Amino acid sequence: MNRFLFALCFLIPLAAAAVEEPNFNEHIAPLIHQNCTECHRPGEAGPFSLITFRDVSKRSKMLDRVISDRYMPPWHPVHGIVEYSNSRRLSDEQIALFSKWVEAGKPEGDPEKAPTPPKFPEGWQLGEPDLVVTMAEAYPVPADGRDIYRNFVLPLDLPEDKWVKAVELRPSARSAIHHSLFFLDTTGTARKKDGEGGKPGFSGMGFRKSGSLGGYVPGSTPKKFPGDLALPLPKGSDLVLATHFHPSGKAEMEQTKVGFFFADKPPSVKMESVQVPPGFGRGMKIDVPAGKADYKIEDTFKIPVDVRAIQINGHAHYIAQEMEMIATLPDGTVQPLLKIDDWDLDWQDNYIFADPIKLPAGTVLKTTIIYDNSADNPDNPFSPPQRIKWGRESTDEMGCVTLMVVPDDTEKSRRLTAANKINQVKILAQVGQELQRTRVLDRLPQIVKELDKNADGLLQSGELPARMRKPLIEKLDEDGNDALDSEETEALRQWLQTMREKREKA
Ligand code: HEC
Repeated sequence: MNRFLFALCFLIPLAAAAVEEPNFNEHIAPLIHQNCTECHRPGEAGPFSLITFRDVSKRSKMLDRVISDRYMPPWHPVHGIVEYSNSRRLSDEQIALFSKWVEAGKPEGDPEKAPTPPKFPEGWQLGEPDLVVTMAEAYPVPADGRDIYRNFVLPLDLPEDKWVKAVELRPSARSAIHHSLFFLDTTGTARKKDGEGGKPGFSGMGFRKSGSLGGYVPGSTPKKFPGDLALPLPKGSDLVLATHFHPSGKAEMEQTKVGFFFADKPPSVKMESVQVPPGFGRGMKIDVPAGKADYKIEDTFKIPVDVRAIQINGHAHYIAQEMEMIATLPDGTVQPLLKIDDWDLDWQDNYIFADPIKLPAGTVLKTTIIYDNSADNPDNPFSPPQRIKWGRESTDEMGCVTLMVVPDDTEKSRRLTAANKINQVKILAQVGQELQRTRVLDRLPQIVKELDKNADGLLQSGELPARMRKPLIEKLDEDGNDALDSEETEALRQWLQTMREKREKA
């Protein structure tokens, strides 16, 4: 350690000591109100309120512990490698200040100096939305049992195209919602399935997604996109909430309210999301043996055009432990974008870069995720540990990091979209390799690429070989648009696999 750093180690506690005798009214109330009360107040996710002297004083030991451990405020990215504008991290000085106040016997201070409790927007965090839609009927979430995946259709009936700056969700069964993804459907396929089984919504992934507007996870604070950035919301779209419930121990009714915030005009360039690995890790063959503590997946993607990175988020389930995305620029510069050492599926935030990060064409994004399936992992959903594979249940695993980028212009945007699509098809290649004996499967991605003559990511029936056209379209074109999209191509893969299994049995 050099002298300067050595001196710094002493200076930091000294800075905290600068406040001789911290008291609640002058020093602790501002700390709590700015960093805790947002969630710890009536109607929010925190289990108790942290507003008054009494609230804080009676739990001071526990608060001191969770603050010192950095368990609260919840914030998982490793500090000091890249800056985010929405960081909730406390400084070492703030942590030392709280401990010092507790050690000093929690003085309240001069009542004259008591701060007024902070005001928060009632209900909607971002103010009054431009459009509010509510689920027509509430969905009953049982007290316990298996996780539930349910899609809810909310017709928007928009007379014209809109551009979305932010979507804010107000769930009624907050504690039972694991996450909710916002999809768009312009074809009405989801509407047709609504009400399946006599309850609101429907199960399964069998509807045509025409777009996505992000998602909601506990602890994520809605934010508007910066500048003129916005996501497209074409007229005639239905919103489909793909909600994942994890029963909370008490029976609840979920009737989600969704608020939309619109831009006045279309953005000058399109945002693009780059997911590494694509498909939530579908093609990575995640298969973690029981007891294995350091199972690793890695994937890379080369960005073909100059972009600015705006924000980043990760997705995985319980046993993921470490997650990172690193960018290596063409000149060799290494730019970390996200690093989490203690992954927690309950806090899947969207991390917004303090300044957009320039990534020149040729930059390689690399995602690494490590899973701990040992009995020592307190988050392991199984005791004793069991083999865990990729899947949609929360006790299965997934793994990916998604970077939102803005290309410089429309032409670059088009090239990035194309590269992204080919990357999606790569999933089929990876999955196909598992099924070595089916040669069609190995060649499927190549076949899809070759067949998709107009490179729009769909296989129109005219693009399919005449011999295959009728059976494939009949069997797989769920939405009846006479074309196969990537999900339908995935269905093709599954169909071929079934045929292979039949052949093997025979
Ligand atoms: C973004 C929302 C959010 C913020 C900000 C936040 N909390 Fe929490 N807090 C929660 C939620 C949700 C829980 C319950 C679930 C959990 O323990 O993760 C919780 C739980 C707690 C607990 C109970 C822990 C336990 O072991 O049961 C304490 C104590 C706590 N918070 C203190 C604080 C303090 C002190 C701050 C500010 C320095 C703070 N929280 C900031 C959301 C928040």
